[in-house]
Amino acid sequence: MSVLSGKHIVLGICGGIAAYKSVSLLRLFIKAGAEVQVVITPAGKEFITPVTLSALSHKPVVSEFFSANTGEWHSHVDLGLWADCMVIAPATASTIGKMANGIADNMLVTTYLSAKSPVFIAPAMDLDMMRHPSTQANLSRLRSYGNHIIEPASGYLASGLEGKGRMEEPENIVVYLERFFAERSDLEGKNVLITAGPTYEKIDPVRFIGNYSSGKMGYAIAEECASRGANVTLVSGPVSISVKNPGINVVRVESAKEMLDECRKAFPTSEISIMCAAVADYAPANPSDRKIKREHQEVPVITLVKNPDIAATLGKEKRSGQMLVGFALETDNETVNATEKLAKKNLDIIVLNSLRDKGACFGTDTNKVSIIKADGSRTDFPLKDKAKVAADIVDEIINFSQSKA
Ligand code: CTP
Repeated sequence: MSVLSGKHIVLGICGGIAAYKSVSLLRLFIKAGAEVQVVITPAGKEFITPVTLSALSHKPVVSEFFSANTGEWHSHVDLGLWADCMVIAPATASTIGKMANGIADNMLVTTYLSAKSPVFIAPAMDLDMMRHPSTQANLSRLRSYGNHIIEPASGYLASGLEGKGRMEEPENIVVYLERFFAERSDLEGKNVLITAGPTYEKIDPVRFIGNYSSGKMGYAIAEECASRGANVTLVSGPVSISVKNPGINVVRVESAKEMLDECRKAFPTSEISIMCAAVADYAPANPSDRKIKREHQEVPVITLVKNPDIAATLGKEKRSGQMLVGFALETDNETVNATEKLAKKNLDIIVLNSLRDKGACFGTDTNKVSIIKADGSRTDFPLKDKAKVAADIVDEIINFSQSKA
């Protein structure tokens, strides 16, 4: 059985001669057991008819923002969430340029911008267009965003010229994707424990001490691990987001103490534990069972006590072969502080994000991280979507655990 079986693939088709090859590609995806939704640009329809594509995919082809007949809105956001991957084949110079620059004037580009999944781009164009500095700059920009470029092959081109620009053959694109997903089964059967979100420390029945953590980074890591085959236990503080993958075991908690209790249950059998939660360092010493009233009261003084350090507790209980990963959100002396935390909490890896970096703070959809390992090595990543940052973090964890084995 192909690893593509059951995968949701958005197949984006642009207006180029190679669009005829998309039909074979679509057939191969369907044959491999994938579910395919075709999104075609207006120019793409000049080269290949939506009727052929919908007959083969068993789904209406999406091209416009609205259905002309029913007025129904085609949600690129829903499509972006539905996809396990998006494949743009053929990708023309024009669409590549729009993708690189966020010019969202058609359904294909809006879907690309909404996609949380890996994106594969198979360019097809004349050799001079392909080697033009602007095409090359756009492609390297797309690569830097974490997209996968399936390089065009060299050969006879529709222009009559010979050179690099032919869209990769559909069979090879399928092999490329199969390899990609096979490698991504690298956590098959492994138990992974993840903490995410803030903790709420009770003052009285209606008030708490909390923080701005949205849980987005921890949830993205949970999705990434689950998509690679891990059994994920996600111990989550109060957040307003939910998981997409129904296989993730979400354990909801409120306080740091509850989070520690749940982590201790899952930790002994977890090969990898990733401490992403923004745990409150202090909690009110004597939370009131009744609402603290304003009237007849002096200004209340809330005495705080130290919360348990979950990462450090697990660090003490860690056995050989277990990987413990922590996060450090710092505002200054970033590297020094992160390296100290790595040692103090007996972590194997620490993921550092600096609040001084734009786009790398609570609530954002992006993050910019540096990964520091217990052997002293360090990798700095550019600003990326949190889903792609999650993939980088998981790759680093797997590489490091393999190098230690
Ligand atoms: N952490 C934890 N339990 C705590 C505090 C932190 O498990 N009570 C974990 C976090 O999930 C993170 C790492 O420890 O993986 C570092 O958290 P951070 O808040 O940056 O560090 P602290 O140890 O709290 O130090 P400080 O707040 O002084 O920077």
